[in-house]
Amino acid sequence: MDSPIRFRALFFLLLILGFVVEIQSLGVGINYGQIANNLPSPQRVAVLLQSLRINKVKLYDADPNVLRAFANTNVEFIVGLGNEHISDMTDPTKAEAWVKQYVQPFLPQTKITCITVGNEVFGSNLANAQPEIMTNLLPAMKTVYNALVSLGLSSQVNVTTAHSLTILSSSYPPSSGVFREDFASYIKPILDFHAQVKSPFLINAYPFFAYKDNPNEVSLDYVLFKPNQGMVDPVTNLHYDNMLYAQIDAVYAAMKAMGHSDVDIKISETGWPSKGDENEVGANPQNAGEYHRNLISRVQQDKGTPMKPSVPIDIFVFALFNENMKPGPASERNYGLFYPDGRPVYSLGAQGQGPQGYLPELVYSSASKVQVMTILGFLIFIVMGFLIHV
Ligand SMILES: *[C@@H]1O[C@H](CO)[C@@H](O)[C@H](O)[C@H]1NC(C)=O
Repeated sequence: MDSPIRFRALFFLLLILGFVVEIQSLGVGINYGQIANNLPSPQRVAVLLQSLRINKVKLYDADPNVLRAFANTNVEFIVGLGNEHISDMTDPTKAEAWVKQYVQPFLPQTKITCITVGNEVFGSNLANAQPEIMTNLLPAMKTVYNALVSLGLSSQVNVTTAHSLTILSSSYPPSSGVFREDFASYIKPILDFHAQVKSPFLINAYPFFAYKDNPNEVSLDYVLFKPNQGMVDPVTNLHYDNMLYAQIDAVYAAMKAMGHSDVDIKISETGWPSKGDENEVGANPQNAGEYHRNLISRVQQDKGTPMKPSVPIDIFVFALFNENMKPGPASERNYGLFYPDGRPVYSLGAQGQGPQGYLPELVYSSASKVQVMTILGFLIFIVMGFLIHV
C-alpha cells in the first residue's frame, strides 16, 4: 500500500473517531451557577466539562471569564440576563450595548447560541414587589432580539426566558395542562414571539418538589425514572412512567390550549439535591444519583415525551457545583454534581465515564488531553499496523 492511500485511510479513521467521540456526548447540558466563594477557575471547569463530554452549558449571567475560558471548545452556551436587568433591556441603546459587551466579542470562538432574559419572573418575589417586570419582560426580550438583528447575530443566537413550572395552574393529568389565569395575558404574547422568531420555551422542572411536598402520595420510583406502573392520562390514553415527562407534556398541553403547537420546549433546569433540611424528604445522595443516572440514560435514548415521541427534549441539569452562598433551605446549596474541589458528589455511572463509573476528578488541562491522545494514538497504531500488513 503506498503512503497517500495510507494517509487517506488515517484521515478517515480520524473522521470516524471524531464522529464516535461526538455521539458519546453525555447528552444533557448543565447549569453552571456561581453563587459560591470556593469554585474552581473557569479554565479548570472547561477541562472538567470536556472530560465529561458535556457540550451544552447554561449560565445565569454572561461572565466574560467563563466565555473566554471556553473559546475554541465545542461547548454551546446559553447566557443570561438577570431579572434585575429586565427594565434596562427595554431601552434599545442599553440592550445593544449589552449585546456588544457580553455576546458579540466572544463569537464565534465561544458558541453562544441563546440569551435568557430573566429567570422565573412569573411568581417570583421580585415580581410581587415590582409587578412592572412582568409587563417589561416581553418588551425586553424583543429589544434584545432587535439588537441581535441589527448586529447581524439573530440567526446564531436565540432569545428566550426561563419559567418555573408554577406558571401552570394544572399539570395533572398532562392533557389538563393550563397556564395560571393571572399569567396568561403575559404568556400568550410571549408564545407568539417564540413562534415568530423560532426560539424555544424554557421550563425549570423539579419532580423533587412534588415528591418532597407529598412523599406519601407520590411514588418515588415514578419521580426517579425507576421501573413502576406509571399512570395513564384518561383523556389521551398516553402512558407516563416518569413525572418529568408528564410535566413537559402538561406544558405542551398548556401551549396548545393557547393555540401554539409551533414552539419547542427545553428543560432549562432539572435536578435533585443530595442533601436537605430535615423536612426536605428525599434529599439524599442515593436519590440524587438515581435521578441523574436515569435521566441521562433517558436522554441518551434520544426519544421525546409521550405527546411528542419524535421530538427529543434538550435538558439542562441543575447544577454543576454545590453553591455555598445560595440562600434558602439546605437543599439549595446541595444540587451540585460536584463539590467545589472537583470531587463527584455521587456516581453518575453513565456510559463514557471514568473507569469506576465516577465522574473524573477535576484534572489540569494537560492530563486529560494526554489520556485522550494516548487512546487515540493506540487506536491509530493498531490501524496503521493493520494497513501495513494489507
Ligand atoms: C433556536 O431555537 C430553536 C427552537 O428550539 C432551535 O431549533 C434552534 O436550533 C435554536 N438556534 C440556535 C442558534 O441554537
